[in-house]
Amino acid sequence: MRSPIEGGNPRVETDGFRRSLAEFATGVTVITTSVDGQRFGLTSNSFASVSLEPPLVLWSIRRESKSFSAFAACSHFAVNILADDQIELSQRFARSGPDKFRDLDCHAGEGGAPLFAGMAASFECVCSQTYDGGDHLVLVGEVLRYSRYDRQPLLFVKGRYAVSADHPDTRVFDGKDVRLEDGEERVLSNLMIRAYSAIAARLERGRQTAGLGLTLMQARLLRAAATSPDRTLDELMPELFLDFNASRNLLESVVALGLVAVDDRGRVRLTIVGEERLHAIVAHAHANEEILFQGIADADLATVRRVLNTMISKQFGDSKSVAAR
Ligand SMILES: Cc1cc2nc3c(=O)[nH]c(=O)nc-3n(C[C@H](O)[C@H](O)[C@H](O)COP(=O)(O)O)c2cc1C
Repeated sequence: MRSPIEGGNPRVETDGFRRSLAEFATGVTVITTSVDGQRFGLTSNSFASVSLEPPLVLWSIRRESKSFSAFAACSHFAVNILADDQIELSQRFARSGPDKFRDLDCHAGEGGAPLFAGMAASFECVCSQTYDGGDHLVLVGEVLRYSRYDRQPLLFVKGRYAVSADHPDTRVFDGKDVRLEDGEERVLSNLMIRAYSAIAARLERGRQTAGLGLTLMQARLLRAAATSPDRTLDELMPELFLDFNASRNLLESVVALGLVAVDDRGRVRLTIVGEERLHAIVAHAHANEEILFQGIADADLATVRRVLNTMISKQFGDSKSVAAR
């Protein structure tokens, strides 16, 4: 049997414990309620199904959450299962704030609990039981109404957002040929996901053997910090696609390596060593591309770059082009 990368007593090695829990892939929900006409909501991935007869679901809320007392006392809650284009909504509800529902397209479900537009599914529940769960409270809801939409769910695994794709080993031939006769993938987005996986794995391997010693996420943080210095972790988070804890751990890891410094106002900046390391990473990425893109005409590469930049700027409403990462 392979030896574990890490392990131990979860009361002592709390970060490792969290990382191990994060190996369990989940969907992402925003759970909402309305108490005395005031709306509350928070991002949650502790949601799970419990029973079909009666129809029960559960989730747990951290006792320190601002909305804890509202949920602990609520009569109803709604589980909004997010679709894969709703990262922004997830990020909005993953932070405490006074005005989380501002400008959002939503309507009141059972008991007034807000339901959003564009979800993959929703469950409107009456809160039937609560249980002590250590620093969390477990809420069990009886589902009064469910709705499912033709959307793909947003996933969360290893502290990062993800999308679902069939495992290549389980793909079955269903009569609709998914590949052209010459073996080319028909669905462009599938092709892009496969290309991304191949490139990311290769880059990561290359980085480790070249002694650059950073993970893809650490390199991404360095790049984000270099692109516009003096942003706080909160401001950098949208580019990291990680939750707050994972972002904080990531930041701490690069601070510990001496690559990044955080000032007393929380502003993040590369150190000289960090800048040198980033240059080495970018140089390595370029060298890697020489091999990766060998035999592909410059004009074709320029088209790929233009198309990808357009897609990214459409997705993020950002008109700036994105340089090679
Ligand atoms: C993907 C993801 C899943 C989360 N799951 C939970 C959860 O199950 N329970 C919880 O209490 N907080 C969870 N959180 C953190 C809360 O969303 C976060 O603490 C939020 O600020 C709580 O809002 P509030 O302080 O306004 O109550 C999660 C965050 C993310 C990004």
